Amino acid sequence: MRKKFVAGNWKMNPNYPEALELLKYLNINVPKDHSNVDILICPPFIYLSEAKNIFTRPDIYLGAQNASAYTNGAYTGEISSTMLKSLGIDYAIIGHSERRQYFGESEEVLAKKIKLCLQENITPIFCVGETLEQRNANEQFEIVKKQISGALYDLSIEQIKKIIIAYEPVWAIGTGVNATPQQAQEMHTFIRNMIMNKYDDVVSQNMIILYGGSVKKDNAYELFSMPDIDGGLIGGASLKGEEFVSIIATAMNIVNK
Ligand code: 13P
Repeated sequence: MRKKFVAGNWKMNPNYPEALELLKYLNINVPKDHSNVDILICPPFIYLSEAKNIFTRPDIYLGAQNASAYTNGAYTGEISSTMLKSLGIDYAIIGHSERRQYFGESEEVLAKKIKLCLQENITPIFCVGETLEQRNANEQFEIVKKQISGALYDLSIEQIKKIIIAYEPVWAIGTGVNATPQQAQEMHTFIRNMIMNKYDDVVSQNMIILYGGSVKKDNAYELFSMPDIDGGLIGGASLKGEEFVSIIATAMNIVNK
């Protein structure tokens, strides 16, 4: 039985005082009895160590929004998975569409990042998803297949077990237009089947597959209720403490139903 998983991706927001306020709010207000829902917050790198101090609760996990494809050395501006691990960070978002689109990250680079995260025992949350143009051309399955096979298929069965996949259709990110539960479910089934065909049924059934793209408290229930949607990777709504807590509560209700 897979757990639900609710993750907040703050992206390049907010400023330092606002970040402190939000972290403190979450530390107090995230429900404590969420044993069937894992909770992850991914603030910008510079707030991670402060977040470690503010979270007095080991039940709220912290993740990075990226990790370098290099281990250490002369790579100005980069943060390595080794550095993240040394701070006690357990998750990293890898291959977000914004990284692909604005920073030119290829499947080859992403495959390196994933391997380095795994070496450090950091769980990569690997993001995939098609653009609107690709969906309009009915290419979404082909695109997601290429993204998954390009970055993950070199992994061993032991390694793939540690991966979380997030399906984030680009057209749904930050637009207020979420994929319908049916559209998301269809893609999640497709992804689960890919993992089954490449690896095995047990790995595929245990894999956490998140949906991301305009998840809000008002649509979380219908999305997270779908059988292959294990929770959400939440952008804008994770910056509002109350709304994010309400999304967590929704996931808890589904699990406890
Ligand atoms: P929004 O929830 O703001 O659409 O962002 C989704 C996302 O990109 C999370 O990684």
